[in-house]
Amino acid sequence: MFNEEKRFSQPIRWAMVGGGRGSEIGYAHRAAAQRDNLFQLTAGAFDLDPQRCQDFGTSLGVDPQRCYADYTQMFAAEAQREDGIQAVSIATPNCSHYAISRAALAAGLHVICEKPVTFSVTEAEDLKQCAQARNLVFGVMYGYSGFQMLHQAREMVRRGDIGAVRVVNMQFAHGFHNQAVEQHSPGARWRMNPEVSGPTYVLGDLGTHIFYAAQMITGLAVDRLCCHRQSFIETRAPLEDNAHVMLQFEGGAVGTLWASAVNAGSMHQQKIRIVGEKASLEWWDEQPNQLRYEVQGEPVRILERGMGYLHNDSTAVSCNRIGGGHAEGFFESWANLYHRFGTAMDAASRGEAQPDLWYPDIDSGIDGVRLLECCVESADNQSGWVKF
Ligand code: NAI
Repeated sequence: MFNEEKRFSQPIRWAMVGGGRGSEIGYAHRAAAQRDNLFQLTAGAFDLDPQRCQDFGTSLGVDPQRCYADYTQMFAAEAQREDGIQAVSIATPNCSHYAISRAALAAGLHVICEKPVTFSVTEAEDLKQCAQARNLVFGVMYGYSGFQMLHQAREMVRRGDIGAVRVVNMQFAHGFHNQAVEQHSPGARWRMNPEVSGPTYVLGDLGTHIFYAAQMITGLAVDRLCCHRQSFIETRAPLEDNAHVMLQFEGGAVGTLWASAVNAGSMHQQKIRIVGEKASLEWWDEQPNQLRYEVQGEPVRILERGMGYLHNDSTAVSCNRIGGGHAEGFFESWANLYHRFGTAMDAASRGEAQPDLWYPDIDSGIDGVRLLECCVESADNQSGWVKF
């Protein structure tokens, strides 16, 4: 059983750009990063509005002098301090991820960036080069990928429990934007503005999450894909509020991905089903502590989080924080990822070899952006097949 014993002599001095008061996702970052004492919130450029940043940062207990008007000021001032920040999380709308990440890497900081990590593959590859050149860790916040039962699925696929993978069925399809809610919701509005959101809406906002889960579990590389996307609320064009993708993986497996914000009545419907030669696995983020294991010709098995029959990766490395039967959820998934990011950063900072630990890194960030580029290219060309 995992507990929060300190793993480092000093927590990583950590800052945030974005995630200010009223933001959707700022609290999840802070709750997850600080859960295991691996990160300490030390500074921030939390908000576009400097006064709100100051008020908010101070209310979180950050030294008022270290609540900065913008990220350039923060990176410059912190670099002058002996106790300056070592890592930064970027939780701003998509259009600023690239510039802020690049500036952070240039300042020698480890980075955790929200998805989609950039607007283009070229930009994402540039970030990879910058991080590699300075031996810095670059994590991408595919926040659902910390759920233990997804790690269990990964181990089961790897040890052959379902046989060779044939079909991967992915979906993240909620119903919250089935009407034009953007008229009164700023958080929805920027997501549908290509200048802020990038070349896609639901594909980037939702599809990248479950796409990463599929990659993480199966290890399959996409060969080619085709995409059909549309906006049922017409004012959202050219961005889509619904999309279907068909994928062919190297080696013969095939897949589908449905991303939607107009799936009326649905809370999340983030699901993945992996069909192998012998059996299938299925997981749903609204019931994250259970994994369905369906062997052809046998009764369905529901595997439960926290049980001894699971693979070790689900219980030890991924922080089994409480025994089976107790529900773990979204915040634990995020904390499990931050635990991995922190472990990797600590090793890199001390010049040690990277631990044998997977986490959503810049390569998965690049693949997420590549998915979006290929989908747009396909959808804009009568849904033709596009090489990945
Ligand atoms: P939001 O609009 O609710 O909040 C954005 C925050 O960033 C605000 O506090 C704003 O003042 C601040 N901000 C914007 N530009 C800034 C800048 N240049 N410098 C400093 N602060 C700045 O946005 P939300 O929904 O929190 O999304 C932020 C990012 O997180 C997006 O990239 C989104 O795709 C991602 N996201 C990820 C989720 C996940 O599950 N991993 C869930 C929700 C959002």
